[in-house]
Amino acid sequence: MAASAHVRILDQRTPQERDRPFLPGAGKTWLLPFYDLFTRIAGVGALHERVVKIAGIEPAQAVADVGCGTGNLFFAVLAAQPSARVTGLDPDGDALRRAARKARRRGVAPTLVQGFADRIPAEDASLDHVVSSLALHHVDDDGRIAFARDALRALRPGGRVTVVDFGGPASRVEHAGHPTHRHGHRPGHALRQLTRLMRTRVGESPVVARNHGDGIVTLLADAGFDDAREVAHADHRLGRLTFVQASRP
Ligand SMILES: C[S@@+](CC[C@H](N)C(=O)[O-])C[C@H]1O[C@@H](n2cnc3c(N)ncnc32)[C@H](O)[C@@H]1O
Repeated sequence: MAASAHVRILDQRTPQERDRPFLPGAGKTWLLPFYDLFTRIAGVGALHERVVKIAGIEPAQAVADVGCGTGNLFFAVLAAQPSARVTGLDPDGDALRRAARKARRRGVAPTLVQGFADRIPAEDASLDHVVSSLALHHVDDDGRIAFARDALRALRPGGRVTVVDFGGPASRVEHAGHPTHRHGHRPGHALRQLTRLMRTRVGESPVVARNHGDGIVTLLADAGFDDAREVAHADHRLGRLTFVQASRP
C-alpha cells in the first residue's frame, strides 16, 4: 500500500445512536491523547501480538477488530499479515481519527467504522476472524450479548472469534499497588500513579466483574459458538487477562 493510503471513517450509527453513551478507552475522553503512550508502557503491544498469533490469521483473510480504539490490535494484524482485509469498529470518533492518522503514516488502509459492538459492519458469513482487545468490559450486558450473536452472524462457518480482556478464572484483582505482573516496562512515577488508578478501577469495576470466572466463554457459548474456551492467560499489572477463542459451527 502506498504511503498516501486513503483512510476514511464510515459512520454507521443511527440518528438515535449519536447520543448513545459509551465508556472511552482510558475511562475519560480527555485521557485519549495519553492512551497509546500508557498502553505502550503497560506492555499492551505484547497482548496484541499474542491475540494475532492465537487467531492464526492467513493471507487476505477478512478480519473485524471490535472496539478497536486507536487501532493498535489491527495494526498488529496488518504487521503480521499485510494482505489481511481489516475493519476497525469503535463508537469513539476521536479514537478512530487517531487510528486513521496512524494508518496514513504507516501506509495501510483499514476500513474504519464508527459504531457499536452489537452491529458488526460485515455481511452475513463474510468474516474469517473477529478479534477484540480490552473492549468487552466497556460494553454493557445487552451490548455484549448482541456482540456475541452478531459475531456469529458475520463469521463464515469455521471462522473464529478471539478476544483478550480482563477476567477469566480466579480473576479477582490483587490489592492495588502490589503488582504481580511481569509484562511491560517499569513505568515512571506519573505513569505508576496512573497504573495504580487503572488497576483499582479494573479491580473494583462492576463491568469488569462480568468477565470474571468463565464470563466471556459463557457469553460466546450461549450465542451458539462451538468450542468456546480460555486458550491462554496473562497476569498483567492491571489485572488477570484472559484470551478466549471460539469458532462458528
Ligand atoms: C480499552 S479500549 C481498547 C482499545 C483497543 N482495542 C486496544 O486494545 O488498545 C476500549 C475500547 O472500547 C470502545 N468501546 C466502548 N464501548 C463500546 C461499544 N459499545 N462497542 C464497541 N466498542 C466500544 C472504546 O471506545 C475504546 O476504544
